[in-house]
Amino acid sequence: MTNTVKKILVTSALPYANGSIHLGHLVEYIQTDIWVRFQKIRGHQCYYVCADDAHGTPIMLHAQKKNSTPEELIAHFQAEHQADFAAFLINFDNYHSTHSPENQHFSNLIYKSLIDGEHIARTTIRQFYDPTEKMFLPDRFIHGECPHCGATEQYGDHCEKCSKTYSPTELKNPVSVVSGTTPIEKDTEHLFVKLEDFESMLQDWISSGTLQPEMHHKLKEWFEAGLKAWDISRDAPYFGFEIPGESNKYFYVWLDAPVGYISSFKNLCDRENIDFEEFWGEDSEAELYHFIGKDIIYFHALFWPAMLSAAGFRKPTAIFAHGFLTVDGQKMSKSRGTFINARTYLKYLKPEYLRYYFAAKLGNGVDDIDLNMEDFLQRVNSDLVGKFVNIASRCAGFITKYFKGQLSSQLAAPALYQEFLTEGNHIAHAYESRDYNKAMRDIMTLADRANQYIDKHKPWIMVKQEESQAELQAVCSQGLNLFRILMGYLSPILPVMTKEVEKFLMAPITWQPEPLLAHTIKAFKPLMIRINQKQIDAMLEASKETLATPPAKEPVSKMIDYDDFSKVDLRIARIVKAEHVEGAQKLLRLTLAVGEDKPRNVFAGIKDAYTPEQLTGKLTVMVANLAPRKMRFGVSEGMVLAAGPGKKDLFILTPDEGAQPGMRVK
Ligand code: 2FM
Ligand code: ZN
Repeated sequence: MTNTVKKILVTSALPYANGSIHLGHLVEYIQTDIWVRFQKIRGHQCYYVCADDAHGTPIMLHAQKKNSTPEELIAHFQAEHQADFAAFLINFDNYHSTHSPENQHFSNLIYKSLIDGEHIARTTIRQFYDPTEKMFLPDRFIHGECPHCGATEQYGDHCEKCSKTYSPTELKNPVSVVSGTTPIEKDTEHLFVKLEDFESMLQDWISSGTLQPEMHHKLKEWFEAGLKAWDISRDAPYFGFEIPGESNKYFYVWLDAPVGYISSFKNLCDRENIDFEEFWGEDSEAELYHFIGKDIIYFHALFWPAMLSAAGFRKPTAIFAHGFLTVDGQKMSKSRGTFINARTYLKYLKPEYLRYYFAAKLGNGVDDIDLNMEDFLQRVNSDLVGKFVNIASRCAGFITKYFKGQLSSQLAAPALYQEFLTEGNHIAHAYESRDYNKAMRDIMTLADRANQYIDKHKPWIMVKQEESQAELQAVCSQGLNLFRILMGYLSPILPVMTKEVEKFLMAPITWQPEPLLAHTIKAFKPLMIRINQKQIDAMLEASKETLATPPAKEPVSKMIDYDDFSKVDLRIARIVKAEHVEGAQKLLRLTLAVGEDKPRNVFAGIKDAYTPEQLTGKLTVMVANLAPRKMRFGVSEGMVLAAGPGKKDLFILTPDEGAQPGMRVK
């Protein structure tokens, strides 16, 4: 254990509030969460904050398309993102939104400092404008023919066919993606941050160990090409913060996005009485780390430190970039079923499988990592189940059966125990430097050693020999103590299993613990089941289907009169518990709080669409006056409302938080 307690603030990139979380996103959140959990188990004061990135043209247009408002759209995605992250055991200390008062405050403050420091310039630029929609068009909302190779249907700034980049005004036959009409060119005045003002500060900062070598190299190329002023304004209509002192001008989404790191943390400080200045003040001694994808290094290593220094905030200690995720060696693809959403994965597989697999693949560089499905199954099954969990399952049964759960009062092999502790220093170093693949290799080498120890002493033979009983207890106790050390080393990866093991060993899991001696444990229950190929196949199939399913079109039923309707008593219900029903193919058992003394027991045919974890804690709507119905698995006392064609495409109704269980739905 380290002596000094460090103050650390950690962030992951803020996901756009415009789409679902997929496995590509999860590389970063899992990578960061592991690092944060590692810091915490080592005793440091470490906070992990994030937020939804809520602004920009795509979000505005997406909401319009849905006949909704941007506020509704971002609320929907924020709830979905938070549920998905929680299901993957990503343990944020705070999750906020860039569309928040704190974020507006800090964005304005930074902008004001940039103005006061005379770092803002006004320049008139010529941009494509859609006269039908009365809006300027971002590059990705213009399509046309590539000026270099003539390929059709190319984006406004680059060609996917010949990979060349260009300015949108060079496109041939440009078309607005928003209205399908031909855009016109129009002048508009924009505000720019004069990045060159920060050149020497940035040069020093990027060369002071803040970046990985590959990223440092990339940044140097940009400096050599010369820093360009950064356009931070967008014209109305835009979903974002209006620029103070301007009319109809908004901050570009990338101006206020990283400010979300500050504002999410401020929101946490206000709630938990944490000293904000200690972390963000110019002279802060706390450490600040941003985990990001390598594609957004430009924003984090140039614009962001410039903004921070202009406004008198501290700069990041380091930026940790990672590569992209490929699946079976290729870019994730919707048609192959390898574009896998977090939710789809969770319907078939446990989050800890993926956390372990990503850890086993992640190094501290920016190389892409591959999720190879065959390797995924093999590694999880052989490392986690076959090697690690196996240590406990081989020893625990004997302790329970022959020694009433009591561990021996001395270690049979103290030197081996010490060796496992000492090895923890290398493992800690590997975690600290984000070499998780090395940490996993070292842990599995120790798991092999523990298994060899058990193999050598053969408890299954000792159990048959009267004179070997004390030794049997000592060997199995040694095995369980070694297992406990390894659980500590794996705890940043496997938080749910860690909790289960704490219950089973009736002792806390810590980093490099004292041995458990003359201590009573509970009976062992399997801690992880093997992945079956069928689960993977079903997940890939479901990922294909997601796109293929056409929206359900059902004719509206025969009219009923108002009296008929008023007989149905619809109530807000809180799903306090959701569980599988043994032997039932489609049903989940829901325990619903509806503001009555006793909760209701309701069976719902939504098992293909939701896991119990996804439902627990949610609000929904139920028919409260439906006569109880006896089913094979028990009595169902009501019905929850769900829409959709069925199977995985069923959606329960989820009222906004704020609705109270028991409220009548009118
Ligand atoms: O690239 C993205 O998905 C952005 N939403 C990341 C923002 S990170 C931070 F700067 F806010
Ligand atoms: Zn081209």
